[in-house]
Amino acid sequence: MLGREKIKDLLTSARTGRKVEVKGWVRTRRGNKNIAFIAVNDGSVIHNIQCVAETASFDEEVLKYVTTGASVRIAGTLVESMGKGQKLEIQAEEIEVYGPADPATYPLQKKGHSLEFLRSIAHLRPRTNTFGAVFRIRHTLAYAIHNFFNDYGFTYLHTPIITGSDAEGAGEMFRVSVLDPAKVPLQEDGQVDFSEDFFGKETNLTVSGQLEGELGALALTEIYTFGPTFRAENSNTPRHLAEFWMIEPEMAFYDIKDNMDLAEVFLKYLVSYVIEHCRDDLEFLNKMYEPGLLDKLQAVLENDFKRISYTEAIEVLKKSEKKFEFPVNWGLDLQSEHERYLVEQYFKRPVIITDYPAEIKAFYMKQNDEGKTVRAMDVLFPGIGEIIGGSQREEDLDKLMSKVKELGIPDKDLWWYIETRKYGTVPHSGFGLGFERMVLFVTGMSNIRDVIPFPRTPKNAEF
Ligand code: 4AD
Ligand code: MG
Repeated sequence: MLGREKIKDLLTSARTGRKVEVKGWVRTRRGNKNIAFIAVNDGSVIHNIQCVAETASFDEEVLKYVTTGASVRIAGTLVESMGKGQKLEIQAEEIEVYGPADPATYPLQKKGHSLEFLRSIAHLRPRTNTFGAVFRIRHTLAYAIHNFFNDYGFTYLHTPIITGSDAEGAGEMFRVSVLDPAKVPLQEDGQVDFSEDFFGKETNLTVSGQLEGELGALALTEIYTFGPTFRAENSNTPRHLAEFWMIEPEMAFYDIKDNMDLAEVFLKYLVSYVIEHCRDDLEFLNKMYEPGLLDKLQAVLENDFKRISYTEAIEVLKKSEKKFEFPVNWGLDLQSEHERYLVEQYFKRPVIITDYPAEIKAFYMKQNDEGKTVRAMDVLFPGIGEIIGGSQREEDLDKLMSKVKELGIPDKDLWWYIETRKYGTVPHSGFGLGFERMVLFVTGMSNIRDVIPFPRTPKNAEF
């Protein structure tokens, strides 16, 4: 009995002359009255397999449905191809159409649709070369991430998606509630009475798994989370999603230097893993979207990341001749134009910036002795800007508490986090890698909406 083989395996198969079977979707059909050349793709690889059918040997009623977009099963003999463009092809002996795709309406008839148009058909865009390549690379990166941490002895800790705390203090969260918006229960003071809600308190979708991750690290020593995170910020940029995936390692006994070292080894491992395992897809993207993509990836492996303090970064920016849209002043956050100037024009390599002003960073970051800065670190990448944000954490109970009070964070929501500083606290550090920003960098795509299958952005949750 024949068994379906993946096109990826068939195209590299050395054994010709044998019976094979493929299942997939027709990408193109060419030919004439007597012969049909059917290019089939099953998503296992960017290349199609050419199936050659002598029309006389097949039922006309079947063949007429073999058009672009139709799903088919084709069995036949794997042979060396006489034609240009492929080494192997299938001499078709059996053709079955699972589902036709009406040429009058199927939207992917021709090549060269714009990425904007393809976003409007996110249900079909995985069938294009571009999105096949991007999603295979996305998968490979996810796999490499688990591989890396497993090899380093980290435990994958699943942190909750529904939380009662605001890890980043940004306050831009999606509320999770089963209350009827038409008749919300109110307290005497007019505020919503969440005690009647599902969890008996106000809850949201998580913005980060870090706080729960820290609890894990203070027991398992080295953990990582890898899950969806949600931010209700109204930023319509090519780098922001309302729902994105984040990888957050958290390590007991790591200081900021250890944290930077891990981030650098980690990012280099991911880049080299993808270079090694996604050659065909990268070459396609290099040709179609970012000439120089492969060189750019190689450069990440070959250069040490430049490490400078925020204060030094501000000096470099102030000295530059460049006109920035946003002001550069000690105390102000760096904008993406500043980050990209440092990485792309000044240092010409990835940059890690440390020791940011306390005011612009989260409450949990370790305070430096001079009192003005915290032991934060952001990793900046070419074409992306910030790809990682992290820090050493404040492990001192008194310092953490004074920060919580200063910022007016309701400590009743965080009592469990604070207790870890009371019982067996240790120096520890961690960071968060934005998964889609990493996929953006590696694929050379330019809009974050094109590296996640179903992007969630303001006013967009169609698919
Ligand atoms: O810098 P962020 O906000 O850091 C944290 O959430 C920390 N709790 C991480 C930690 O220390 N464990 O986010 C981390 C990274 C950013 O550097 C960026 O790559 C990505 O997450 N990111 C986004 N990616 C896509 N869309 C958004 N709206 C993003 N916001 C952050
Ligand atoms: Mg950040």
